[in-house]
Amino acid sequence: MQIFIDTGSLEEIKEAATFGIVDGVTTNPSLIAKTGKSRDEIINEIVKIIDGPISAEVISTDSQGMIEEGKMLSKIHKNVTIKVPMTIEGIKACKWFSDNKIKTNVTLVFSSNQALLAAKAGATYVSPFIGRLDDIGHDGMNLIEEIRQVFDNYAFPTQILAASIRHPDHVRVASMLGADVATIPFDVLKKLYNHVLTDKGVEAFLKDYKKSIS
Ligand code: G3P
Repeated sequence: MQIFIDTGSLEEIKEAATFGIVDGVTTNPSLIAKTGKSRDEIINEIVKIIDGPISAEVISTDSQGMIEEGKMLSKIHKNVTIKVPMTIEGIKACKWFSDNKIKTNVTLVFSSNQALLAAKAGATYVSPFIGRLDDIGHDGMNLIEEIRQVFDNYAFPTQILAASIRHPDHVRVASMLGADVATIPFDVLKKLYNHVLTDKGVEAFLKDYKKSIS
């Protein structure tokens, strides 16, 4: 499974890049807004830090506007993936991008039918939002399982990018269910490294060794 970091923060991306396990970055308009900079300024910086897919989301609501924005974004760097919303207009734009060999990430996916439509339009990635489904009392993980089955049934090459990840268990289950990518907020990414027995073990090993040389 590939690991992307879900943030617009250049500081977080720079630190995460040093970990050696980050394959790409996803952003959205809310994450960009937190930085106080424009989307294009941020994307121009991210491509210098991470050599992998970088999702940049369009703001337009009509397909023609999305296509114009996407054309401009894709000129920033070959790694820029155009993120479009799961709407009729977004899927029309996705088809255009796919026909023109521009990579896409269809976002705000909450059902396997939506994922099916995105895959038929040639999406590179679909982003099911796990946490937001959990928030309304649904099981976000069921959606990953359903989409995996649909894509496998018809051999769609579209990759499942598990998004709206809120805690390490989302990552654990997404990887067991065969999500191709998990996009993870920085605080959750750091939590993946932790286990209480690892901390205890490291502490005990150091203590024992220090005793032996004193
Ligand atoms: O990048 C999109 C997605 O990961 C958003 O997550 O926590 O705002 O539902 P969240």
